[in-house]
Amino acid sequence: MSAAQHIETAAEPILTVRGVETFYGKIQALRGVDIDVNRGEIVTLIGANGAGKSTLMMTICGNPQARSGQIVYNGTDITTLPTHDIMSMSIAQSPEGRRIFPRMTVMENLQMGAILEDEKYFDDDLRKVFELFPRLKERRGQRGGTLSGGEQQMLAIGRALMSRPKLLLLDEPSLGLAPLVVKQIFEAIRELNINEGLTVFLVEQNAFHALRLAHRGYVMVNGSITMAGTGRELLAREEVRSAYLEGGAH
Ligand SMILES: Nc1ncnc2c1ncn2[C@@H]1O[C@H](COP(=O)(O)OP(=O)(O)OP(=O)(O)O)[C@@H](O)[C@H]1O
Ligand SMILES: [Mg+2]
Repeated sequence: MSAAQHIETAAEPILTVRGVETFYGKIQALRGVDIDVNRGEIVTLIGANGAGKSTLMMTICGNPQARSGQIVYNGTDITTLPTHDIMSMSIAQSPEGRRIFPRMTVMENLQMGAILEDEKYFDDDLRKVFELFPRLKERRGQRGGTLSGGEQQMLAIGRALMSRPKLLLLDEPSLGLAPLVVKQIFEAIRELNINEGLTVFLVEQNAFHALRLAHRGYVMVNGSITMAGTGRELLAREEVRSAYLEGGAH
């Protein structure tokens, strides 16, 4: 069952990216990117290695900052805000490479993600993360660095959730994981979206699973958006199938 069947709300943007250009020194990584994420949606961004997907996610978080264009989150122009201000606005990010704290236990990692001022939510949020990923509960005393790749990914997502985000940014949660684990992770994202109404912006190379999960998707080539549509539309397009699906669909 596709997540697209569950939500038919009037489009209300939580994130609007317009004409964003990002450079690393003289190298231009983003070339005028336009993207919308509406409340309650799962939106995915797919594209080949080096297309600029992670750069877009990092630009949304303010590091690096866009050299031109505009990024509006929840009605606020965040284009030139420092990262710590952006991250305090109920945006949570699970960056590429699942950066957990390897020497800390699962529990300590989750505590690091929680908002300290909101201690009253901690038990409730922890219970939800453990419901979503029972494996983390079993392993709560284990050091992060000794978890399997899939467990570390669960921990990275769990930690992001502990900050009670309105918008969750995920960069390649399926990277390097076995198909069964990928399925579990994507199922968890779907559950969060349906049960909690969480809005998700998902960067993925695993185009097949990402487009099946997402309400809408964008394709990025060389720093530009070349295609946009519902997950289903993009999955059906020949250009998407030939460029991004071989090997990933089975
Ligand atoms: N810190 C950096 N300094 C210089 N160039 C960079 C830096 N980070 C990324 N780039 C370049 O910017 C371009 C876009 O990289 P980016 O990491 O955004 O791609 P991606 O779509 O996330 O790729 P992948 O699927 O491999 O993660 C690439 O050409 C990359 O070499
Ligand atoms: Mg990347």
